[in-house]
Amino acid sequence: MSQNDTSKPLITVAGASSKQGRSVANALLDSGRYRVRALTRSLDSQPAQALAKKGAEVVVAPLELGRRAELTEAMKGSAGAFLMTPPIVKVPPAEIELTLGKELADAAVAAGVEHVVFSGLENVEAITGGTKWAPHFTDKAKIVDYIRGLPIRSSFVYLAFYYTNFLEYYVPQRTKDGINFAIYLPPDIPMPFCDPLTAPGPAVREIFDNPERYAGEVLPVIGEFISARQMVETFERVTGKRARYVSAYSREDLLRHFPGFASDEHLVRELVGMVEYAVEYGYYAPRRDLTWSRKVDPNALTWEQFLKRSKWQGDLLSYGAAEPELAPT
Ligand SMILES: NC(=O)c1ccc[n+]([C@@H]2O[C@H](COP(=O)([O-])OP(=O)(O)OC[C@H]3O[C@@H](n4cnc5c(N)ncnc54)[C@H](OP(=O)(O)O)[C@@H]3O)[C@@H](O)[C@H]2O)c1
Repeated sequence: MSQNDTSKPLITVAGASSKQGRSVANALLDSGRYRVRALTRSLDSQPAQALAKKGAEVVVAPLELGRRAELTEAMKGSAGAFLMTPPIVKVPPAEIELTLGKELADAAVAAGVEHVVFSGLENVEAITGGTKWAPHFTDKAKIVDYIRGLPIRSSFVYLAFYYTNFLEYYVPQRTKDGINFAIYLPPDIPMPFCDPLTAPGPAVREIFDNPERYAGEVLPVIGEFISARQMVETFERVTGKRARYVSAYSREDLLRHFPGFASDEHLVRELVGMVEYAVEYGYYAPRRDLTWSRKVDPNALTWEQFLKRSKWQGDLLSYGAAEPELAPT
């Protein structure tokens, strides 16, 4: 079995049962060039068991504050580590995600890891002069800055919006005239999207395959740029179901279509801040290479391919790892 071949570099995947973590672990294992250690809170979850069956060494190491020593222990012997932070609702002034990201990176350094790939996002606070509040972006950018100051080689993947957001969190609503597909974006502005279950893996594998080439780089991971209206039209074409685009872009529209979010004012502020940022400033900072991930993975799924492959018909779907109370960010 590949895991016994210690000539292959060991890569630890933090949050291995997350959508992106699974993609990374699977891509590394599928290549046959790496051993994978998968960190999780629970050995019993379906994603953890699937990775174990595929040959990953599954280790309990929760992505929680105050566990630096455990995380260090869990990363020992690894040549590389993929680091990600789980969805965390921001309740200021707490900086849970920022602190967790720093602890993860510190653990990688303490464990003697040579190269970390962190899943980051842009610094919305800096780009917008503090006018938009999207701390799950900004905190990731601050983690990126922190990691750059550590004595470790680092690279960063910045994932586009997930296609799966509509399956897990912003589920279309059925009416007697068809489906109301409420989307958190205006109708005609193309935005970057990706499939988090398949897109991050090839990108991260490419980085570990060529560590020197990608040292210090920020690499966007994108399936395609597509507008909200095009997403709905594609959904109609692929599923044969009648659907119409409905705006959930403004705060009022968001809460009208997804009243459940109203119970968490911070989450609502964060979602609105994030989409306003993306629409007004662009999801990615200027000069990012928006073509890189497709060159690395020409088979990266478009929305149409994602719909065909997933056979999604517009219903709520869970990926077996996210918890119901977690933020759709
Ligand atoms: N949605 C988007 O459009 C989008 C786009 C770009 C980036 N992102 C970012 O992607 C990240 C989420 O990635 P994902 O969607 O792949 O994750 P996910 O599928 O929701 O999985 C999150 C994982 O983190 C662990 N986890 C969940 N809650 C936790 C908690 N309270 N404490 C400790 N561990 C916990 C769980 O693993 P175990 O149970 O195995 O420990 C779970 O599998 C977020 O940081 C988000 O900001 C999202």
